[in-house]
Amino acid sequence: MTAFKPGDPLTINRLYGRSSGHKLRQGQQELVEGLLPQLAVPAQGEISARALFGDERPLHFEIGFGSGEHLAYRADLLPDHGFIGAEPFLNGVATALGHIRDGALRNVRLHMGDALEVLRRVPDGALTMLYLLHPDPWPKARHAKRRMVNDGPVRLFADKLKPGGELRIATDHPVYLEWTLMTMQRHTDRFEWLAERPRDFLEPVGGWIETRYGAKSRREGRRPYYLRYRKL
Ligand SMILES: C[S@@+](CC[C@H](N)C(=O)[O-])C[C@H]1O[C@@H](n2cnc3c(N)ncnc32)[C@H](O)[C@@H]1O
Repeated sequence: MTAFKPGDPLTINRLYGRSSGHKLRQGQQELVEGLLPQLAVPAQGEISARALFGDERPLHFEIGFGSGEHLAYRADLLPDHGFIGAEPFLNGVATALGHIRDGALRNVRLHMGDALEVLRRVPDGALTMLYLLHPDPWPKARHAKRRMVNDGPVRLFADKLKPGGELRIATDHPVYLEWTLMTMQRHTDRFEWLAERPRDFLEPVGGWIETRYGAKSRREGRRPYYLRYRKL
């Protein structure tokens, strides 16, 4: 288990974005008050498949799920797997709750807040898949420490994934792409990049749908890149 010391990059608060936007509609407010407490990850203790779902099913974790389309799609595709999503943005959480209700998804648990806080409580080697889709790019060099892809979090990702598990990262930002490739290059003892040809990181594969942000990026003429790493 990774030890956390003051000054460790993991102890830097990574919640810099907005946590709420426009006022919730009444139906969304009801979901936040009624459904979210039923699906919320417990505030304390270990976050294992057994603790959340009462069995040993494969566990997936999505960091910053936005409005939850990808999370809901994956959970619907794999009903026997368990999904944990973390997102601090209230309006995104409310939209995700709508997808969970509409899809009658029983295999999703949510945390409204910092993903790393919750990820630390997942037992080492417990995750089958970890998704980090279009993390905030923090393109200025002076904000680089705020990026979710950094040595501290990447070590945490490696600890939490089981051997053979997969880390999926999407970004449309050239600075973040280069930063991610360089950062992951420092962790080749724990992760293997699965790309064999350029096409492998230009198209999503293996049940990987485009997120809301990814679709917007494409509409605006940018290109999302898709990186897959296998945990060794
Ligand atoms: C650019 S958006 C992408 C959203 C979604 N993944 C998509 O592709 O549509 C980045 C998201 O990361 C979330 N985020 C930022 N810091 C976070 C943190 N520490 N833990 C979890 N989510 C975080 C933001 O609230 C935002 O929703």
